[in-house]
Amino acid sequence: MYISQQIAADAVNQVLSGRNLTLALPAALAAFPNATPQQRGAAADISYGTLRFYGEINAYLTCLLEKPLSDDRIYALLLVAIYQLLHDKADAFTVVNQAVHAVSQFRKPTPKQWAKGLVNAILRNFLRKKDEFAAKLAKTEVVTYSYPQWWINKLEIQYPDHWQAMLIAGNQHPPMTLRVNTKRTSIDEYLQLLERQDIVANHIGGQAVVLAKPVAVEKIPGFSDGVVSVQDYGAQLAAQLLDVKPGMRVLDACCAPGGKTGHILELADVQLTAMDSDVTRLQRVQENLDRLKLSAKLLAADAANAEWYDEQPFDRILADVPCTASGIVRRHVDIKWLRREADVTSFAAQQAKILPNLWQLLAKGGKLLYVTCSVFNEENQKQVDKFLLQHPDAKQLPLPVDTFKNVTQLHGQLIPSTAHDGFFYALLQKN
Ligand SMILES: C[S@@+](CC[C@H](N)C(=O)[O-])C[C@H]1O[C@@H](n2cnc3c(N)ncnc32)[C@H](O)[C@@H]1O
Repeated sequence: MYISQQIAADAVNQVLSGRNLTLALPAALAAFPNATPQQRGAAADISYGTLRFYGEINAYLTCLLEKPLSDDRIYALLLVAIYQLLHDKADAFTVVNQAVHAVSQFRKPTPKQWAKGLVNAILRNFLRKKDEFAAKLAKTEVVTYSYPQWWINKLEIQYPDHWQAMLIAGNQHPPMTLRVNTKRTSIDEYLQLLERQDIVANHIGGQAVVLAKPVAVEKIPGFSDGVVSVQDYGAQLAAQLLDVKPGMRVLDACCAPGGKTGHILELADVQLTAMDSDVTRLQRVQENLDRLKLSAKLLAADAANAEWYDEQPFDRILADVPCTASGIVRRHVDIKWLRREADVTSFAAQQAKILPNLWQLLAKGGKLLYVTCSVFNEENQKQVDKFLLQHPDAKQLPLPVDTFKNVTQLHGQLIPSTAHDGFFYALLQKN
């Protein structure tokens, strides 16, 4: 399994240099075309685990190093091995031996014997002194929660009653949640289909069915022909809250990769324009719609200006704006370490351009649903409050309680839980 460690170390190293894990992991895997499916699966698990608990693991490694380590690859390999020693069920001495072997496979310029000796010494020292370090680090929040300190501070201020539970929820493995296309089958029929295939599942609300254990996408009954999609339950509230009716003109303004686009079309036959500024991501929307056998007008354009607008107002607008993604860290563990505190301000500035621009395109009496997958207030209610002050023709509607079955929320802010990620919803109506 040293190959899995090597792949994971490469992926982690790339993320710590600023690359998204969704790009880093495939790149790291591509360097080992002969790795078995089991080794590839293990590499993915170890990469996610290491980044999920990076705050904690990095603190241990800092205690173990007498001086900074100049080779990033060895640093990442040590992080990976310490993750396995702290959180994995793997045998400790096997992990150490594999790491020593893995480092010996690194190409120059690191001298092999020196690197092997160093990895062996550090990991054995870790095994000896783990409890001593644990006692020393016990009161450090970055170690306890594995988030950057600025992130912890922000949540502590913004959610005095929930911040710890939110941080802990973000470190859990997310469930696999499906969205059933109820135009094609009923929830009960689909649950029976799953039962016949020995897949344990449970309906939690709306069109959402949670699997007791994740299943490979290609093995999900009905996935390939569009009967179901994979989508977090929190994300599934968007299309429902948008309150679409047949025949309406609807704009999905920041639509890629199209998770919510498909859901809107499954709920009502509307005239949907699905827009995104990223042409490459827009291709994924088309692929998703093809799988679902649905169609929309796809448009590559900027939601922050109206150059593309044909002067025909929309009855509904979904503004699923770019954001820090701080509410979906259990699925995107790298976000915690890629984001900087200043990013909150720059995303808020982008959102503050998009929201008023989209507002001009909304018909009188129409509704705009403002959505983020963030838990930071600057991007959420604070953003909406500023908008409302400058737009007397806008009012924020209460959200229908019956949509929020099994949802933990505070005024439209979903508090990340086992059932869902941390989305924010504000429904605005034009007078
Ligand atoms: C949160 S994601 C949308 C997720 C999508 N609604 C879904 O459910 O699958 C935000 C999207 O906004 C797009 N985006 C960012 N800035 C934009 C802009 N100025 N105009 C239009 N789209 C933009 C990004 O390319 C990204 O695809």
